Amino acid sequence: KANEKESLYLVSEFANTYFQNILHKTDQGKSIGLSYFKERGFTEETIKTFDLGYALDVWQGFTDEALKKGYSIEYLEKTGLTIVKEDKRFDRFKGRVMFPIKSMSGRVLGFGGRILVTDKKAAKYMNSPESDIYHKSKVLYGIYHAKQSIAKEDNCYLVEGYTDVIQFYQTGIKNVVSSSGTALTSEQIRLINRLTKNITVLFDGDAAGMRASLRGIDLILEQGMNVKVCTFPEGEDPDSFAKQNTLQELTEYLNANAKDFIQFKASVLFEESKNDPIKKAETVRDIINSISKIPDRIKKEIYIQECARIMDVSEEVLFSTLAQINKKEI
Ligand code: CTP
Ligand code: MN
Ligand code: MN
Ligand code: MN
Ligand code: MN
Repeated sequence: KANEKESLYLVSEFANTYFQNILHKTDQGKSIGLSYFKERGFTEETIKTFDLGYALDVWQGFTDEALKKGYSIEYLEKTGLTIVKEDKRFDRFKGRVMFPIKSMSGRVLGFGGRILVTDKKAAKYMNSPESDIYHKSKVLYGIYHAKQSIAKEDNCYLVEGYTDVIQFYQTGIKNVVSSSGTALTSEQIRLINRLTKNITVLFDGDAAGMRASLRGIDLILEQGMNVKVCTFPEGEDPDSFAKQNTLQELTEYLNANAKDFIQFKASVLFEESKNDPIKKAETVRDIINSISKIPDRIKKEIYIQECARIMDVSEEVLFSTLAQINKKEI
């Protein structure tokens, strides 16, 4: 089994080198892939740092090359790099720019591939399937490049996408990782928990991003970690925002707009309907529910006080609501 995993790693590493060679050394790679990345504002250095690559728009480019180099079809299929149908073999990634997904220690686990022109016909991103080395709920894109800075800054920015990580990193904020579009999981948060107790959630400025941020909060609190949320203007994501701003502007924006989870929930759930008592009651209940997830009793008490102040309700009623929630969970 250990041997088999090693074989999957080796095939993935080969693919990583192959897609980079295509990007940097072939005419198609340069004219299509490299120009795409440059248009997105990525420098040569950034492209190399993240091992970005390109998959030719042909049916069996990668697969033929891998077989020629002696990699077995069994492992090509198990990593999902090759799709086998009866006696036919196809490259999974075809005409896409490639983002290798690495483990904490820098091993290639899988890939995300983006089509160049988005239309309704094909999914914008295609990702490696689950395999013995790639479990999407347990990896964070960018963790290998971010880990030192996360520990040093004692904070981790959590974004949705590959390009959000890369643009932040290039702008100078390196403590950033992505859940890669999947709903954030406890396993992903545990990876961050080894490096820092502080997470700042930076999801896209749209309804989906807002929902994802709300869902992520309790999972983070449950692990005894601190969570802030910073939203972006409607239609912007961390990538598009960082691209338009300098490091200083970006840092100022993040510092000015990061809210702790109570302020965040109070603002999104309640601010628009300031005078609606039913809405207000629901918001308070929602916040107390999040507070109930915090393991530390002192922090719990401090957050209750903050909630009482922000929502203008008595601490007594909040404590008794908290007690009710705790009872229900037993
Ligand atoms: N994603 C995916 N499959 C899709 C769409 C999205 O796996 N069909 C994942 C990708 O990891 C993507 C992330 O979800 O990076 C966030 O999605 P989205 O915000 O739509 O994409 P962006 O990262 O903003 O990508 P881009 O800027 O290239 O359009
Ligand atoms: Mn999005
Ligand atoms: Mn996005
Ligand atoms: Mn984007
Ligand atoms: Mn920038």
